[in-house]
Amino acid sequence: MSSYTKRIIAKKILRSLKNRIFIEKDAVLVTEHLASSISLRDVSKKTDISGPQFQLKFREARKHFTEAFVKNLKEVTPQNLETESDVESVAVEDVRQDDKAVLFRVNADLLSKSVLESIRVEGDRYGYQLQGGSAPRHTTLVEYSSPNIAKPFHAGHLRSTIIGNVIANLFERVGHNVVRINYLGDWGTQFGLLAVGFHRYGNQQELQTNPMLHLFQVYVKINGDVEKEKGPKQRETESATYQEGLEAFKKMEEGNLVINSDLLSLWTQFREISIQEYSKVYKRLGIHFTEYQGEAMFQDKSRALIDTLGERGLLQYNSEDGFGYVEVETAGQNNRAALVKSDGSTLYLTRDVAAALHRLDKYKFDSMYYVVDAGQILHFRHLIGVLRRLSVPWADTSPADIHVGFGRVEGMSTRRGQVVFLEDILNEAKQRMLDTMRTKETTKDLETVDVVADILGISAIIVQDLRERRQKNYKFSWDKVLSFKSDSGVSLQYAHARLCSVERNCGVTLTTEIDPAHLSDREGQLLLLHIARYEEVVSDALRTLEPYHIVQYLFTLGHLINSAHRNLKVKGQPEEVAKARLLLFNCAKTTLANGLTVLGISPLQQM
Ligand code: ARG
Repeated sequence: MSSYTKRIIAKKILRSLKNRIFIEKDAVLVTEHLASSISLRDVSKKTDISGPQFQLKFREARKHFTEAFVKNLKEVTPQNLETESDVESVAVEDVRQDDKAVLFRVNADLLSKSVLESIRVEGDRYGYQLQGGSAPRHTTLVEYSSPNIAKPFHAGHLRSTIIGNVIANLFERVGHNVVRINYLGDWGTQFGLLAVGFHRYGNQQELQTNPMLHLFQVYVKINGDVEKEKGPKQRETESATYQEGLEAFKKMEEGNLVINSDLLSLWTQFREISIQEYSKVYKRLGIHFTEYQGEAMFQDKSRALIDTLGERGLLQYNSEDGFGYVEVETAGQNNRAALVKSDGSTLYLTRDVAAALHRLDKYKFDSMYYVVDAGQILHFRHLIGVLRRLSVPWADTSPADIHVGFGRVEGMSTRRGQVVFLEDILNEAKQRMLDTMRTKETTKDLETVDVVADILGISAIIVQDLRERRQKNYKFSWDKVLSFKSDSGVSLQYAHARLCSVERNCGVTLTTEIDPAHLSDREGQLLLLHIARYEEVVSDALRTLEPYHIVQYLFTLGHLINSAHRNLKVKGQPEEVAKARLLLFNCAKTTLANGLTVLGISPLQQM
């Protein structure tokens, strides 16, 4: 049910109540509350759906409104609701003590017709028409992926890539102007170390032929040297190699790269190679960015920031280690956010503050989110804290939670061992899919088997990553990821491909001119009500920045599609029945495709 339909219903109810309880200006507010609290959540779980009912819960509505509404509701009768309404009757019901619900009995035929028609009209926009068109366009910046150059792309970066992409897609679909930033870790001691490593172990020819692998080998070797030298219980700083790396990095920092042309050219080369390689994988995943930024580009700006902080008297120095910090308030407590080392060099946080200021200036965003593993929570609290101390207006009004955190993945490995490159995991998924497909009658003759296997592998990994609350850690298992039988990316694709095949083979033409009475079977009604909920789920996902709402919704949609498919044949049925069912299946397909697409998955026509 679209929010438009909800508002209409809400207005109708209000109109009949208004003269008695509300003054005009409250009416608008109440309509909004009412519309937003209409929920179909419980409907699809109900077993008896003859004459579908859905409940309005008022726990979230304002108290005075709830009371007034509940008190007066008894006077609402079908007669004072308009005749052409989906709503046939309204009644108050005690759910639990102190918890009342308003029970609506809806006219199933009218509801079916209005839902199906709106999906046909809205198509790929179905589910996303949440906002009125007149509001000024909201600019939302989402930062995600953000791997560290010349270091392995670990599971955390994969999660950031997948989750960030969904969040950006969701905002875009509901009409925000979305800026997608990939903030590369291209600065820091590891670059000095890598430069030392390259002099020791690297060679240009290998770097040209197998860039990522070669950089990785150098990275492993030089870190091995550090490990060997420092001894088991000592700190990295005890190692001569590490000191050499620090020295090299210091040169890079001081010279701003310009005077140190050897280091500069190595750094540029490593960075370019990494971006090129990442871009290939992003392309395969269907992921794009408005801009690649990187810590390095905020080097100068970080220094300027330190000066500003000093001038404004915000910077204090710790007498013990000489670090410069700004006092910030995080979660009601005072904390020290370190921004400059005793030797004057800047930190990860300094660059992030400078980067945020730069983004604000460049994109004038209304909101910004950092999709980064949960381990960095404190970092982002410090970040918003420093921005607030700087009296950045956006930071003052922004919620403290700009950090969209997520848990760890355990045990992600391929047949070759631990995952080092993102590409390995995608290749492994594809290969495993190919192996399974070759054993299946239906898929082994597909001409496009290679492409299909790749898409299926990617869908499976994405769905696996998004199926639970993002903060939860999870264990990676190939069997679960690639399952055809239980809920997975593969099972969702299968449901979609099956709907495409119904359309191809049913011999009926798609039309909205149907008689909804032919959809009164239980399977049909359940599917329809679930389809009608999609918009509500999108808004839950957006409100909580939790993509799992959509995945879980799609799993249920998949089950309902399968049981409808078993019981509601299209082919060989009387024409009127076939048409009605075809329209229902077509709308289910649109909804499923919309959900998959927003998750970053291309729906398959055939598999
Ligand atoms: N490159 C960092 C890492 O891998 C993540 C960057 C997160 N974004 C940020 N603005 N700090 O740990």
